[in-house]
This record gives sequence, C-alpha cells and structure tokens, in this order.
Amino acid sequence: MPETTTGPSTTAWWRTASIYQIYVRSFADANGDGIGDLAGIRSRLPYLRDLGVDALWLTPWYVSPMADAGYDVADYCDIDPVFGDLGGAEALIEAVHEHGLRIIVDIVPNHCSDRHPWFQAALAAGAGSPERGRFWFVEGRGEGGDLPPNDWQAYFGGPAWTRITESDGSPGPWYLHMFTPEQPDLNWEDPGTLAAFEEILRFWLDRGVDGFRIDVAHGLMKKHGLPDVGPVPIPDDLPYQDRPEVHDVYRAWRRVTDSYAGERVMVGEIWLPTPEQYTRYLRPDELHSAFNFEFLCSAWEPAAIRDVIDYTLASHASVGAPPTWVLSNHDTIRHVTRYGREDTSFDMGHKRHDDPSDLALGTRRARAAALLSLALPGGVYVYQGDELGLAEVVDIPVDRIQDPTWERSGHTDRGRDGCRVPLPWSGDAPPFGFSGAHPQAEPWLPQPARWKQSTVAAQSEDSASTLNLYRDALALRRKLISQLPAAVTWIDAGADVLAFSRSDAFTCMVNFSDVPIALPGGYRLLASSDDTAGGGVLAPNAAVWLGADS
Ligand code: NOJ
Ligand code: CA
Repeated sequence: MPETTTGPSTTAWWRTASIYQIYVRSFADANGDGIGDLAGIRSRLPYLRDLGVDALWLTPWYVSPMADAGYDVADYCDIDPVFGDLGGAEALIEAVHEHGLRIIVDIVPNHCSDRHPWFQAALAAGAGSPERGRFWFVEGRGEGGDLPPNDWQAYFGGPAWTRITESDGSPGPWYLHMFTPEQPDLNWEDPGTLAAFEEILRFWLDRGVDGFRIDVAHGLMKKHGLPDVGPVPIPDDLPYQDRPEVHDVYRAWRRVTDSYAGERVMVGEIWLPTPEQYTRYLRPDELHSAFNFEFLCSAWEPAAIRDVIDYTLASHASVGAPPTWVLSNHDTIRHVTRYGREDTSFDMGHKRHDDPSDLALGTRRARAAALLSLALPGGVYVYQGDELGLAEVVDIPVDRIQDPTWERSGHTDRGRDGCRVPLPWSGDAPPFGFSGAHPQAEPWLPQPARWKQSTVAAQSEDSASTLNLYRDALALRRKLISQLPAAVTWIDAGADVLAFSRSDAFTCMVNFSDVPIALPGGYRLLASSDDTAGGGVLAPNAAVWLGADS
C-alpha cells in the first residue's frame, strides 16, 4: 500500500497539540448495545472539532476477549466486533481527518492476549520451541517446580506467574504476566517480536493514523536472569522495567514512523519515578513525547505544582522534547474527586477510593487546573469527561464492577471503572444520549442519575459551564498560547499563588488559597475559571488568564 500523507500541515503539530483521549467503550454507542463503538465516535466528531482539540487518542480497538478492556489484544490488525470492523476504522480515520483532527491509536507491545495465535501456538508447541521463545516460559522453583520462578508481583495483584499444564496433562513451566494471567508478557529479546510489531505499526500507518500511544512503554525488556526484586524493591532498579535495551526498540520504531510523510508520532505511557528517567525515552531518535504523570500525581499545592513544572521543563529541554500536561486518564481517579480530598495527591498503587471528597471544592480546583494545564508550553491531554467536569463515580454496585483489578486484588481495590462510566450527552435520565437512537439501551457501567446536570446538552446552554470554559480556553490556546515562546517566567505573587507569563501578551495566575486576591492592574481578562468573581479579583481556588491591556 502506498504511503499516505495526513492532516493539513507537516509542521511539528505534536509539540503544542491538545489531544483528547477517547475511551472507546464509553464515548458513544451507535448500535444500542450499551458499549461505545467506532460509529458512535464518528457521529460525535463535530462535537470534538467544536471543542477545539487538535487530535484524538483512542484506547485499544483491536480484537480482544476483553479481560482487561481491550488491553489484551488477540489480533493487532483487526477491530473487535463490539467496536466495529476494519472498514469502519478506515472510515473513521478518514472522517477524523475531514474534521481537521488527527488520530493516535493505542499499541500494546508488552503483552498480548492469551487467546492470541502466538500464545496458543506457544502452548501447543512445547518446551524449547521457537513459539515458546516468544514469551517468558520458565521452570518453577522448589520441589517439582511448583513455586513461581521469582517473586515478581503483577500490577493488578497476585504473582506475575501462572503455571501451565502441558497437553499430556503433566505440570509444565510458568509464564510471566505483569498484568492479568490473560495478558502473557512478550519476550522482546526474540527478534521475531520486533519484526512483528514493525509490521503492525506499518499496517496502521498505511491506513493513515497519525501516531501511537505506547502502552507500558518502559516495561518491554526484562533484566537477564529474571532476578527476584527482594523484600524491599528498589524503585529505580526494578528488573521488569526501564531496562537499557528498551531504547533500541524505540530507535527502530522511530525509523519506521520517520519513513512516513505527515509527522507520525509516538507517545509513551511511561510510569517511572522521575522525569529525568522518562525523558531518556524522548531523545531525538526515540519517542516524540510522553505523559507527564508527575503532574497528574502531584498534590494541588502551589510549591509542589511549581516544582513539577520546573523540573518537567528542564528535563524535557535537555532532550529537546515538548513537555506534556495531563490531569486524568482511564486508569486514575478523576481529578475533580482527587482535588476535593484532604490529600490531593495520587498514587496508582493506593487510590484511596473511600477517601471523602468535597466535590464543590474539587470542581473549583479542577477548573483552575484546566486553565493552568492549557496555559503551559508543550502538549496537553484532555480525558473524555474532563471537559464536563465529571467526578469519579464511587458508588458503582460491586456486582457491576468490570475492572479485573477488583477480583485480582481480592476485592480490596475497586479499580478503574469509576472514571470509565459512559459519557452523558443529553436528556434527563440514563443512558443520557450515550446510545443515540436507542434510549432503552443499558450502558455497560451504570451512570449516576445526578449526571443530568452534566450532559453536553445541558452544559452547552450554560455559559458558565465547565464545557464552555474548555471550549473558550481551547480556542484561545489555539489562537494565542500555542504560538508563544516555550519559556515560562515566574512572577512572585505570594506563597499561595502561582503566576507566570509566557510573553508580554499572556499571563496565567492560579490562587490556591481560600481567600480572594487582588489582581494586578494593567491587564485584560482573557479567561477565568470562576465566573462569579468581580473585576480585579482572583477568586479562591481559581485561575485567570490575563492579556496585555490594549
Ligand atoms: C496501561 C493501560 O492504560 C491500562 O488500562 C492497562 O490495564 C495496562 N496498561 C495493561 O495493558
Ligand atoms: Ca455499541
């Protein structure tokens, strides 16, 4: 298939892009089965164009048994029937471009599904075969090999190893799965793995996608010998992540994306302790950008946020990569809820689902955080529902929970369903327009009745809504902010305020305190996260954008 060019320009669009994350299962459902699909996304492209984002990132759409909501891929080159088909994906890519948007798809290289033909062939082929060499099959320890090969724990809880039974009924080796047992880790030391994924990248690049979000990008390589982590694991030196050899994979992939016209990009999902570590993946011949999880995890406190901003800017500048800013995604607790808690920080391993939250306060802070993140240099991510100010749904009945984390943790971690509830589009009752022409449909996760105030339709009518705040801010960002020099100049405005300018024409101020603060004179108000504040005042827990007084 010939190479395709995409999008209207070939400038480095990704350096300043606003990218909207679509959680495919929960965005829009066209056929009324209660699960979001590609036709649903197509029908909502005008909404996304009018919101003012530059690109879309779609969570996995591939054939999958859905043991981990599509992050268990059984065929990387076809679409799961619940979402549509390949023709529908091609039509969607084209329609996205017709709406002046770009599209990034999720690629899941650390593991595949246990139903993938690669794993099925490995099970069938037996010990020592090349098919088994694609995965990590290792003899167990202890008498009879009935203990796991090492002490690694899966991210969702429990041991990272499962023992197989050979076809003759005898107990076999164990295989590695850093997530669920249905997600066997691929062996990236096997040259066939790299070759296979290069083909997969080309398959989608040939179909016009503008790039890839790379799942668990830091995890592909494992330390030789698969050593124990020991009783006190060293976060900077874990044998299953951030191994030096992984960089060669991305250098090879970069050669692939660079061989296509149209600025195709790769965005890494890299959970590592510091930006200094993850920006090594952003050297000029590796990935283009990565999610800034330090920003997401930071407490909503001025000194902490300023620190994150400073070291994000410095570490990204050292490799020439654009910083990014992200407040929420499909794995975290929605930031309206986080910011309304006493402890406003986020820890993936300890989500504190039961912590109480003052949602009015959380909403004020989330609106301020929106203006802050959209004002900073680099790229920004908006997770579907951020623009509606949605809070985490903390009361999903336990018999409706779908996230495997719930079972794998022995019912101690409710998991991530609370940020994955289908979007409310319109109307007064569930499914709130999620299933379009099928008002009787039952969404795959229950929507709270209180969302009738949060629908796109309701918020479109309200000039003070979070949706309209995002629309106005994204428009200004495109017109003004994305053109500004990348440097941030801090302005001293007291311990409770973060203030910075990007030029004489643009200043952002955030008040983290509970009292109003006088704004400096000589500016024009461009945007405010608080509509109730009178002139000349920066309201509590609010942010403003100021322009030059003309
Ligand atoms: C990160 C994804 O964002 C998450 O949803 C998934 O469960 C894991 N990677 C495993 O693929
Ligand atoms: Ca559907």
